[in-house]
This record gives sequence, C-alpha cells and structure tokens, in this order.
Amino acid sequence: TFVVTENCIQCKYTDCVEVCPVDCFYEGPNFLVIHPDECIDCALCEPECPAEAIFSEDELPEGQEKFIEINAELAEVWPNISERKDALDDADEMNGKEGKADKLER
Ligand code: SF4
Ligand code: F3S
Repeated sequence: TFVVTENCIQCKYTDCVEVCPVDCFYEGPNFLVIHPDECIDCALCEPECPAEAIFSEDELPEGQEKFIEINAELAEVWPNISERKDALDDADEMNGKEGKADKLER
C-alpha cells in the first residue's frame, strides 16, 4: 500500500489522482489520502507528486508512520477524487515547509 504523507498538506497538487488505475484517492480540504484496501501497489502515483509526498508504507521517511492510520481513517469518510484540479493557492509556497501535520483539516 502507498501512503500520502505530510508534505501534501496545504499543497494538494492532485497530479497523483489522474494516474491511479483503481481511483483510490480521497479528498479532504487540504490533503488527499489513499484507501489502503483499494491500492494495488502499482507505484504509478509516487513519481507524479511534485511535493514528493507519496511513499510505499514500507519506505516511509522517519516521523511519517502516523500517516498510515490517517490515510486509512480519512479514506473512509472523504469523497473520492479521480480528476486533477488546481492545486491550493499557496501550494508552491507551502511545498517543503515543516510542521504541516498540525495544519491537516478534516
Ligand atoms: Fe493508486 Fe497505484 Fe498509487 Fe496505489 S500505488 S494509490 S493503486 S496509483
Ligand atoms: Fe498531494 Fe502530491 Fe497528490 S501534493 S494531492 S499527493 S500530487
């Protein structure tokens, strides 16, 4: 399973959703998640993210482990997204900023 991690928050570029063959991305106000039971581990989305926010759950950077649970939880409540849309207004500015985990809106 692949996991969307912290650096997607406040960016939400959405390039990832366009390539997913099983449409398993779900959208919140300032973050996307992957449904762990639907992801087929194809890895197509990983290189598409301009924020490099997508990782295999086996290769998560240190400190990002909590996003396994966050993806699983929010994929059950947020709506599906399968078409790309404009990134958030401050996406380029927020890309790479630290401490974004606290800014996650549900
Ligand atoms: Fe979709 Fe493949 Fe990414 Fe899983 S790894 S979320 S199936 S594009
Ligand atoms: Fe987020 Fe990257 Fe997709 S910023 S919306 S995981 S392209």
